[in-house]
Amino acid sequence: MSNLVRDFKVFTGNSNKPLAEAIGRELKQALGKDLGHCEIKKFSDGEIWVKYADNIRGSDVFIIQSTNTPHENLMELLIMIDAARRASANKITAVIPYFGYSRQDRKDQPRVSITAKLVANLITVAGADRVITMDLHASQVQGFFDIPFDHLYASATFFKRIEKLNLNNLAVVSPDVGGIKLARAYAKRFNADLVVIDKRRPQQNVTEIMNIIGNVEGKNVLLVDDIIDTANTFTQAAHLLKEKGALSIIGICTHPVFSSDSAVELLNNAPLDKLFVTDTINNERVNKVKNLEVVSVAKTFALAIQYTFEYKSISSLFDTDKD
Ligand code: R5P
Repeated sequence: MSNLVRDFKVFTGNSNKPLAEAIGRELKQALGKDLGHCEIKKFSDGEIWVKYADNIRGSDVFIIQSTNTPHENLMELLIMIDAARRASANKITAVIPYFGYSRQDRKDQPRVSITAKLVANLITVAGADRVITMDLHASQVQGFFDIPFDHLYASATFFKRIEKLNLNNLAVVSPDVGGIKLARAYAKRFNADLVVIDKRRPQQNVTEIMNIIGNVEGKNVLLVDDIIDTANTFTQAAHLLKEKGALSIIGICTHPVFSSDSAVELLNNAPLDKLFVTDTINNERVNKVKNLEVVSVAKTFALAIQYTFEYKSISSLFDTDKD
């Protein structure tokens, strides 16, 4: 009779060690599980070398790695997946708190790439059996994968934090049409009006705000977006909302990409009473933004890892009725 016992091991790349360690602490507390050790080194020309320090043959392996820039974060993830496959891991799950390259999700003009699909192909070909990620720029990107895909929502964590503010007379604002679905979940939860800003983007990273659909005069506003990159979208929206008479503006953003110091400057000069972000990206610039609070999503990821291993429902973690 076989006495094989299923086992799982969790490893992290270098992109977001603070979050991975926080996930590790949650797993340690819940299941007595430590993070596994994986050596990651570089050749002198920068090529990445990976070796799992422990035996992972037959184990379910979870690899935590956000794929924000630098691009070697993605390469590191692919190499970790490949090394795990070649070491005979049973199942490999790529846990990608921030899924980089997801904004290019369609051919919106001739002769461009669909990078979200390209990255999905790379992760699958490297040998991942499953992907867990959070607040994709467009949830259709799930369909770019032909392997199981779990999409987590930061809203579950943000809701708890926002509730503590005891705000009333609320309006929830999406700074662009693409973010309506995300904003609608907040509007529904807080029984608030939904307001949309009609944003046009003449070229990458250049935003021109056109119009506001709805009323924010005299309201406390929750301004919700999935990504703040240059911060043009978010801060232009905040200024417009103030002009239109918003009483206070609370910003909520899952992924603080904050790609330059000017993003920090724009945020510090915007009329934001508070800005909540998550820790899906390890970005030192978050410490330079005033009124910013990081809300950790470590527990959500730890539960998603645990439930995946135990074949439990991931959707039970969320109110998935988002329409
Ligand atoms: C765009 O559609 C996204 O939801 C974000 O609004 C956008 O990526 C933010 O970019 P930026 O901060 O550069 O304006």
